[in-house]
Amino acid sequence: MNESLIAEAIKVRKRAYTPYSHFSVGAVLMTKSGSTYSGCNIENTSFGLTSCAERNAIFAAVTAGEHEFKKIVVVGDTKDVTIPCGACLQVMAEFFSANTEVILANINGLSRKYLFKNLFPVRFNLKGDRRV
Ligand code: THU
Repeated sequence: MNESLIAEAIKVRKRAYTPYSHFSVGAVLMTKSGSTYSGCNIENTSFGLTSCAERNAIFAAVTAGEHEFKKIVVVGDTKDVTIPCGACLQVMAEFFSANTEVILANINGLSRKYLFKNLFPVRFNLKGDRRV
C-alpha cells in the first residue's frame, strides 16, 4: 500500500522543475476516501516563489474539493528520508489531523512513518492556542 504510493511519488518527482537547486521532491496525498493527488516542487528564478511538492499536492487536492486526508508520502534523493520544510508543515497543519500519517522516504527504498502530531506538535494559530 505505502510502497505503491512511494512508487507514485518517485514517478511524480521526475516532473519536478528544479534548475536551481537540482533537488527534486515528489509527494502523494491520499484522501480518507482513497483518492490520490500528487505534487512536485516547482522552482522560479525569483527563488522565493518556489513551491514545494507537499504544498502543491495539498493545494491540488483542496482545489478538487478534498479536505479529509489519510496520509501523505514525501520522497527525495536524500541519505536518510526527506523531511518536509516548516512552511509545508504549517500548511499540513491547516488540513491534517493529529493522526494523519506522514510517510517520509528516499528514492533508495528507505521510509519512515510518522503521525502528524509527532512531526509538528505545536504550530502557529491565530488564538495562540498550544493545543490546536
Ligand atoms: N522542497 C520541497 O519540495 N519540499 C520540502 O519540504 C522542502 C524543500 C524543495 C524546494 C526547492 O525546490 C528544493 O526542495 C530545495 O530547497
